[in-house]
Amino acid sequence: MAPSAAPRSAGKNRGRELPRSRPRVLMVSSEVSPWAKSGGLADVLSALPVALAGIGYQVGVVVPRFLSAADAPARRVVSSLRVPFPSGDQEIGISEMAVPLPAPGAGSVTLFFVDAPQLYGRPGLYGETSGDYGDNHIRFAVLCRAALEVSRRLFPADIFHCHDWQAALLPVYLRTRTGVDPHFLAARTLLTIHNLGYQGRFDSRQFGDLGLPASVFQPGLSSTGSLEFWGGLNFLKGGIGFADAVNTVSPAYAKEIQTPEFGFGLDGVLRQRGAEGSPVTGILNGVDYTRWNPETDSSLPARYSLSDLAGKRDCKRALLAELGLPEKAMERPLLGIVSRFATQKGFDLLGEAARELFRDDVYLVALGNGEPVWEDLFRQLQREFPDRVGLRIGYDDPLAHRIEAGSDIFLMPSRYEPCGLNQIYSLRYGTIPVVRATGGLDDTIADAGPGGKSPGGTGFKFADYNGKALLETVRRACRAWEDRKVWTALISRAMRQEFSWAVAAQQYSLLYCSLASREHPGDSK
Ligand code: ADP
Ligand code: GLC
Repeated sequence: MAPSAAPRSAGKNRGRELPRSRPRVLMVSSEVSPWAKSGGLADVLSALPVALAGIGYQVGVVVPRFLSAADAPARRVVSSLRVPFPSGDQEIGISEMAVPLPAPGAGSVTLFFVDAPQLYGRPGLYGETSGDYGDNHIRFAVLCRAALEVSRRLFPADIFHCHDWQAALLPVYLRTRTGVDPHFLAARTLLTIHNLGYQGRFDSRQFGDLGLPASVFQPGLSSTGSLEFWGGLNFLKGGIGFADAVNTVSPAYAKEIQTPEFGFGLDGVLRQRGAEGSPVTGILNGVDYTRWNPETDSSLPARYSLSDLAGKRDCKRALLAELGLPEKAMERPLLGIVSRFATQKGFDLLGEAARELFRDDVYLVALGNGEPVWEDLFRQLQREFPDRVGLRIGYDDPLAHRIEAGSDIFLMPSRYEPCGLNQIYSLRYGTIPVVRATGGLDDTIADAGPGGKSPGGTGFKFADYNGKALLETVRRACRAWEDRKVWTALISRAMRQEFSWAVAAQQYSLLYCSLASREHPGDSK
């Protein structure tokens, strides 16, 4: 029987606009795939908005138009706008483009580019080999102010969802500069921390360039807002203090960053949010299986699936040839690495373990770039073990896919890892992860036990941060590899794992809805 219809208008609500069922969300980020990417942040920004649109959200994404996005087919919608700063006005424009959705007719995603060639039209996103750009504080302050203008003129936002330090000033501007502008009175802010290791720290003298009141540059831990941090300026600290909610990208990392060991000096401010009733939460990232799927991946020389793994061997053979490793490696375990080469990623452990590791009959392919010390380490390993190590220094998305597919084992010995996406991609490609049990790596990989046979195991984990622990764990994985039956069972369990963005989108949806209905402390004044 059809449910009986509820009365149309309950007298009390007559004349009042009923709340929209879904708040309108404007994301602000420095990266979005494929237009600007240095790591997983870009992957999140291209997938999460689409997943939210799939459940009926209207989502906009504001990003700088870096050189890498010069050819984006966007339409200029605001030709020229002056954003005032004490050091001089910044002239910007706004262009927009619709992001095509897999399922039309649900919600929508609009990408807004901030056109400001004087700030963003440079070879790097954040800097070049000589270092970070000296005006990064202005570049990303402009991003935040531009996002407010996008909301005022083009896309009225109920929720500003700010990602990382580059967007962290938005909640500060919103609460200190928009005053009684009715556009913003009901707006709420969410700050997602993708990596606490990057905070947007600048010299205190640069505070004066931002056009913020002196009251927000006070020493102290107060989460009600100060950008001051050990005498300097800290964008992320400002965002943590001013945002209505703060989350990060895995439950384990949400706990870790509230400890001095992982808090990069901000653990006190993060804990204080909890003490004030708005604790930092963790929402695990998902995977865009339209891009990371060995059954359909156009970057691979052969495709494969759980029911027919033959193509995986073809991928391995082609990868060995591509990176100059001998054909005989087909009969031995091949380890893979795709990474930013940053201290966070734990490659010092590989440096410690490598000489011992390559006494065993194993092979390694690595793709990455970043800090010179780690690029040098990999170059050195390749010089020492030319028949064992295939190396590509650089950034190469199709090769990243081929390494995911052609390797047997994927290495992520991270010192810390907020979520990590590559280990989750590896699962879908039947490439078994060896990870350090930290942050999102710990949340997404279940240890397969000493013989690789533990029910539910999807990879191999170690806890102690040292080369010996890494070596033992890689050896454990290699022993399991040698037992065809054990390894096939492991591959099959790994490939069946599902880290869908739909789940994360539901969790963000709950957070947005609770934020939209939450009174802001300032509202009653
Ligand atoms: P992080 O964001 O810390 O770099 P993640 O594991 O979350 O780590 O995401 C890394 C993303 O960047 C993945 O999509 C990975 O494939 C990609 N990536 C990293 N380095 C390279 C590279 N050198 N070439 C191609 N893709 C890379
Ligand atoms: C960061 C983190 C990484 C995470 C990514 C996307 O770059 O280092 O662990 O997966 O952001 O959230």
